[in-house]
Amino acid sequence: MIRPLNILGAGRAGTSLARAAAAAGLPVRIASSRPPTAMRLHLSQYAPRATAVAAEAIAQDGTDQPIVVLMVPQEDLDSVDPGWLDGCLLVDATNRWAGEPLPGWLQTALDAGRSSSEALAARFRGATVVKALNHVSHWELDTAGRSPGPERRALGVAADREDAAAAVGQLAGELGFAPVLLPGLAAGRALEPDGPVFNRPMSAPELARLTGGTVVQD
Ligand SMILES: NC(=O)c1ccc[n+]([C@@H]2O[C@H](COP(=O)([O-])OP(=O)(O)OC[C@H]3O[C@@H](n4cnc5c(N)ncnc54)[C@H](OP(=O)(O)O)[C@@H]3O)[C@@H](O)[C@H]2O)c1
Repeated sequence: MIRPLNILGAGRAGTSLARAAAAAGLPVRIASSRPPTAMRLHLSQYAPRATAVAAEAIAQDGTDQPIVVLMVPQEDLDSVDPGWLDGCLLVDATNRWAGEPLPGWLQTALDAGRSSSEALAARFRGATVVKALNHVSHWELDTAGRSPGPERRALGVAADREDAAAAVGQLAGELGFAPVLLPGLAAGRALEPDGPVFNRPMSAPELARLTGGTVVQD
């Protein structure tokens, strides 16, 4: 069975990733705050090959450790029930934008110096959190992994668990990116909007140099 890609959030970023994954041959399940029947028109326009599912069922794809990419604005994270994500590998693709009002638990963690992914890991305790897919804009996400030329665009993957980093690194490769593994979840801060690689296309060796990461060899 090909492992499906599950995406929570069907806005600009979620539908862009859905198109990229479908182009790579992956089955895509996607959810928004609306019920699946209310997503039909939106998905027919922006992610026609994705299957709409209910948000609370996003991790129920029939595999042992489903991959769920979180593409919900940080200000809306209180509306995401942690129970939906128990047992999954949760790819935190969220970013904080200046002035965005945040849930109290997230603001408190950021004020204490934690990365947003560390805060999410404390909130979504039943999931294994990995930071990735946040530093490429939705304008490019669906095509960046298939850009012409000899050098693939790099994608950073930050996780505390090696198996989780490897699984998301494999996904990055399937999407056409060159994965770079960062040394732990906290290191994912380098992928955030004020970091050195955000929205900057670059090769895997350059991203590795700027983030202290390791290039995954083919
Ligand atoms: N835009 C980019 O270039 C980009 C790239 C990488 C990462 N990101 C990050 O991805 C996140 C989303 O950005 P965006 O630009 O895609 O935002 P957006 O266009 O506003 O879309 C947000 C989506 O989240 C859904 N949502 C809200 N609450 C939800 C819930 N409780 N359960 C399920 N879905 C829920 C919304 O559902 P409804 O449509 O039903 O309201 C909507 O589909 C942000 O943190 C952003 O920083 C964005």
